[in-house]
Parts: sequence; C-alpha cells; structure tokens
Amino acid sequence: MNDRIASAPRGAESNATFPVREHHLDLARALLDRMTLEEKVGQLSQFSINQATGPDSVRGEQRELAAKGHIGSMLNVRGAAVVNDIQKHAVERSRLGIPILFAFDIIHGQRTVYPIPLGLSASWDPDLAERCARMAAVEGAAEGIRWTFSPMVDICKDARWGRVMEGSGEDPYLGSLFARAMVRGYQTEDLGEPTALLACAKHFAAYGACHGGRDYDAADVHERSLRQTYLPPFRSALDAGAATFMSGFHSNAGVPSSADPFMLTEVLRREWGFSGFVVSDYNSIGELVAHGVARDLAGAAAKAFNAGVDMDMQATAYIAHLERLVDEGTVPVERVNSAVTTVLAIKFALGLFERPYTDESIAERVMVCDEHRAIARESAERSFVLLKNDERGGSAALPIRDGETVALIGPNATVGKDWYGPWAWSGEGRDATRLDSAMADRLGDRCAVVGGLGFDAGETEDLTRAVREAKSADVTILAVGESWEMCGEAKSRATIALPPSQRRLVREVAAVAKRCVLVVTAGRPLDISEESRLVDGVLVVWFPGVEAGPAIARTLLGDSSPTGRLTMAFPRSTGQLPIHYDRVNVGRPPREGGRPIEQWNTGYIDEYSLPLFPFGYGLSYTEFEYSSTRLSVGSADTRSLAAGATVTASATVRNTGDRAGDETVQCYAAVSGASVAQPVRKLVGFQRVHLRPGASATVDIEIGAARLAFWNQRMEHVIEPCEVGVVIGPHSDAGDPVLLEITGEPVKVADAPPASRAT
Ligand code: NOJ
Repeated sequence: MNDRIASAPRGAESNATFPVREHHLDLARALLDRMTLEEKVGQLSQFSINQATGPDSVRGEQRELAAKGHIGSMLNVRGAAVVNDIQKHAVERSRLGIPILFAFDIIHGQRTVYPIPLGLSASWDPDLAERCARMAAVEGAAEGIRWTFSPMVDICKDARWGRVMEGSGEDPYLGSLFARAMVRGYQTEDLGEPTALLACAKHFAAYGACHGGRDYDAADVHERSLRQTYLPPFRSALDAGAATFMSGFHSNAGVPSSADPFMLTEVLRREWGFSGFVVSDYNSIGELVAHGVARDLAGAAAKAFNAGVDMDMQATAYIAHLERLVDEGTVPVERVNSAVTTVLAIKFALGLFERPYTDESIAERVMVCDEHRAIARESAERSFVLLKNDERGGSAALPIRDGETVALIGPNATVGKDWYGPWAWSGEGRDATRLDSAMADRLGDRCAVVGGLGFDAGETEDLTRAVREAKSADVTILAVGESWEMCGEAKSRATIALPPSQRRLVREVAAVAKRCVLVVTAGRPLDISEESRLVDGVLVVWFPGVEAGPAIARTLLGDSSPTGRLTMAFPRSTGQLPIHYDRVNVGRPPREGGRPIEQWNTGYIDEYSLPLFPFGYGLSYTEFEYSSTRLSVGSADTRSLAAGATVTASATVRNTGDRAGDETVQCYAAVSGASVAQPVRKLVGFQRVHLRPGASATVDIEIGAARLAFWNQRMEHVIEPCEVGVVIGPHSDAGDPVLLEITGEPVKVADAPPASRAT
C-alpha cells in the first residue's frame, strides 16, 4: 500500500508511469519548430473515415488532407491495407511526413470478441481483464490501430443508461482496479512495443451520472461525490500511465464536459499532473453550440481548446478555426505548441515515425488464433453470474445431469454473432459459436431446440412448440434477455424488464417445465423479479463473445462452475433506480430488510428499498460458509492513523458442498462518526479462494488506511477518528461487522488510487 501524506507533490507518481520519455519530447520539439501553424492544427484534428467520406474506402478528399499534413489522427479506418493506404499519403506526400495515428473503439476485443466490460468485471479479476486487453491490442495493432478509445471507466448506478455495458459497474474501487488493468494490457510498459495501443480513459467525467440514465443528458454531481465516486477510476487509469483521456457529450453542473476547464485543466493537468492529451468525443465540440455555451463552431473551438481539449474528434472545429483564433489572440499559441508537442511525442513513443506501416500478413496469424480463443472462453465462463439455483425434486436446477433430456428454447437458442453484444464492430459472424450447436455436440438428440422466437415478438407457432418441448424435457433452458441492439450507446431504456413477448414465453414455459433455467443475455442489470420467481435457476451470461456457445454449454453441463459476482445490483423494479450498495447513511434509514415503508422511513410505500440481487452477489455449484471474522492491526501506529497503516481482516471460509469451487471473499467497511456522512458500506478488498469439498481456508484481506479516507467538508482527503465496522462476506449485503476504533488526529491522505491490487 502507498498511503502518503498529502504534502507529497501531486502528479509526481503519475508522471513516472507516463509512457513518453524525454527524448521523445526532444524529437517532438525539434519537429514542432519546423511546422506551420496550419500543420500544427492538423495534428490536433481527428476525422472518421466513414462519417466524413462515406463507406470504408479512402476517398480523394481525405487523401489530399493527409497529403497536406492536415490529419493528425483518424478513427474507424478498418483493415491494415486501408490504413497503410491512407498512411502513405501522410508519410510520403506531406511536407514533413508525419504519420497519422489510427484509432478505433476496441471495447471488448477486436476480432476475438470477449465479454462486454460489465460482464468481464463480474469476474472480479483485473488480471484477466489485463490479458483480454493485451489480446485486443495485439489484434488491433495487426490492423494498424495504435489507439483504442477504452477503457470506459464511467461509474454508473442507474441501469437505465445503455452504456453501463461498457463500464465496470457501480463501485469506484473495483472500477479503479479494472481501469488500471485495462490500461496496462493495452499499453504494456513500453509504447514502442509494436503491439502497444494507447489507452483512452473516458468520458471525463461523471457521464455515468446523466439524469434518469438518459444518454447524453446532463449530470449534476457535487464535487465530493465526483471525487469520491466518479474520479477514482480515472485517477487509477492515469496512474497506470494512460496516455489519453476523452471528454464527454454531457455536462456536469451546467458545464459541458468538452469545455470544462475545472475538470480538464485544474484537476487533470494541474492537480493530477496528466502529461498526455485529451480528445473530445465525437463532434462534442460542435455540440457546444447546442449546449448553448458557444454561438458558433469558432466559439466552440475556442472554448474547448482553452478548457483543455487537445484534439478535436470529427467536429472540424479546430481545422476550420484554430489558426484564426490564434492569430486574433483568442487562443494562445503556446497552448497549441504544447498540445502538438504531446501528440507528436506520443507518436514518437509509439515508434510510428520508424514504422508507420503495418505488416498486412500479421492479421492472418493473430486474429482469433487458438490462444485468443482460449482467453475468450476463459473470460466468458468467468463472467457468468448464477443468481438462482433452487432445488427441485431433490437436486439443484444446475448443472444438468448425465442422461437428462433438455429443451433449449428462446431467441438466443440459435444465434451466433448476436452473442457479441454492442461495440463489437470488428467481430465477424464466421468466428461466432452457437449454443444449440454446443449443446448438440454434447447431448446429441437429447437436446431439442426451439429458436425463432424474436426478442420482442413471439410467434404463436413457436410458442406452442416451446411449451410442448418443455413439457417433455427433464430440464428446460430458456435463452432470453436483451438483444445487442437494446443496450449500448444511445440505448437507454425507461423500463429494464424483459420485452413482453419474452415475459409471456417465460410464464408459459415455466408453468409446464419440470425444471426451468433462464440463461439471460444482458448489457445491464435487468428487472427479472417476476421471471426469477417463476423459474428454478437464473444464469446471467451478459454478452459473452466468440466463445459464447461452448462457454455456456460447459457451464450448464457442469464442466465449469459459475464464479462471477455482480458488479451492479439487479433491482426489483425500474422504479428503484438508481440503486447501489454504497448509498450514504441517512437520518431515517430504510426499514429492516429494506421493506416498504410504513411510516417516515427512507424508501417507497410500494417497493422494497433493497435490490433483488445486490452488488457482489453470485452463487456457484457448491456452497460456502463464513465464520470467525477478526481483525488484526498491522502496525503499532494504525490506531493513530499513521501513514502506511494497515489492518488485516480475516475470516474462515469453508466449502460445505460436494463440489470444488471458487469463492470471491469480499470485505467491506462502514465508517461512522466522521465529519461527513459515509456510505453504509464500501468495498475495501476481496480475494478469490479455491476450495475442495469440505476444505476450509483462512482468508486475509489487507486494508490500507487510505481506503478509509474520504473527502471532508473542506474537500480534503482525510482519515478521521471514527469507528469502522469491517465485514467479510459473500456479497455487499451479508455479514456482521467487527469493530475497529480509530483514534487520534485527522490525517490527510494523498488522493491516490488503490496501490496494491486486491490480494
Ligand atoms: C462516441 C462515444 O461516446 C465514444 O465513447 C466513442 O469512443 C466515440 N463515439 C468514437 O467512436
């Protein structure tokens, strides 16, 4: 752990991991001296191939722009041959031969699609995420891409927002660990490694807090919750060396993200010491006019650039206006010089000047190779969350037992590429796997399949057949949920239930099935309150990617036991949103068990205040028992909050079932007696443990004192004397606290992200 007193210079640590070295900056400065202002502005301009010029082909106009040195970066260019073609115009025809930086949204894999980020986070395994990101980078680089707009580290507590599928859930600590892992996976330690991709932490910041979960809407987050909840994953990405950040479409407290000097300059550059560059979101500079903070594109360019947006994605605001804005003194030329120097230095660090072209033969070797498929399979299986597994007729709903007959029914029963989910633009149908084929491989004619039921328009004929097959099978698997078009960007939903036709399918089939299990695709937590009551088992598989078929089949058949844990609560109804485990203590707490209020409590008269399945929840094919939670103080000074203090929380965990299994042991802290109301609980550590049947283990979780710090009323990051209830359990709503008394004077703590990965 690295708890430090706040007087340590901020940003110092961040610069150490920033992947650009002094000699890259020297080369960039030397080049800058030779550039015209027009060429400089070109380096700050990014264009999309398909939007600006139509289909995925290089049209003359962009070739000419490249040849003039007016394109610093391009996005959405697909395939090494096309990338090389455009690059040639920049490198061989432009005056200074500056290569273009090609970017793409590689969000959960390039061609080897792995689970959506929300699903991957359910593995609670940042190392796995790092491996996934590495594999994505290798495939992306093979196509000439050296910059991905990932990770999206927006914390979100409202499942109506369609983009929750792109993030790591509701918790800032877990989100920070995933942010760091993804950055490391993409960038490696050396950007000069030909497969390194620049990471981009987005969307800075609080985009996930948009009102009502409506995409692109405004947010209104106070600085304390901004710092406590929304900023930590960004800081973590920065400390891992993230070379770029992206501003957003939204505004916070009335200030559009792409023209927010407080966030982009005060916090990011001055306070945190960020040395990379900030790119706007797609046309978000142009949209400053609609936000009402700029009269025209020129005004928008000035606002965005002066606020700290270095590169303009697709608004053509900088290319059209920045030169004039410098000439007339609205924008300081020093600011242009510093932004261009950073962009060039990063291009030098990437080795783009030495190797501007991509070997077109590499893609053939690396795309969806066996090694990548294996990672996709492992990450898919590790993302699955078993939410219900009741017994019927003396045995659990899952796994399916030898010799049993199966009816596989539902819109997902026969799909292939649909398992990829949103943001998988490079995923190809030919690489997809199907659940019906994977089940047939194992069960032969013991598995009857009824597909063809649309996601939101059931056909009567199929429904009749579904009911008939369900009646005769030993186990019915209902493959239902969201289609990939129901989540992602611009896919906010006012109701997060299953579509009506699927609800009807579940009702009718569950009524006749001997044993019924839902396999749910989801890009967000869903309201499955009614359905989960009607069936015996519920397995949430998110969008698993290219290995969906085998991964799900192996899990249903018991070759693999589910180990995923929710990183966002599943609510009882849409009306509960936003909902999250780390809600702040209030004067009139919800009733015991979160039951609907009768009198004067926080909550609803017609709904529970606790979710259906809380953060951290997930079952496996065995069971675990927790006992003897205890604390040991790691250093004599801990109680007086000295820097570096640690507490070790320990518990004994025993596998009481009859199968081996993995448990994710979670540790939460509840701070009371502080000057600012604290979350009822916050995650402070976790550890995965593998236990044979009957075996037990003592799990030690080290809690750095910094994890107990918070932002006080003067907006200082402090630990105060307080009482801490430490809980170890299987999810955020379990376990009894063991108390720790912290005494002494308040201590300021550096605003650093968790320094040590969860043990
Ligand atoms: C808009 C999205 O908000 C952003 O996340 C993405 O990276 C850009 N488009 C580029 O495609």
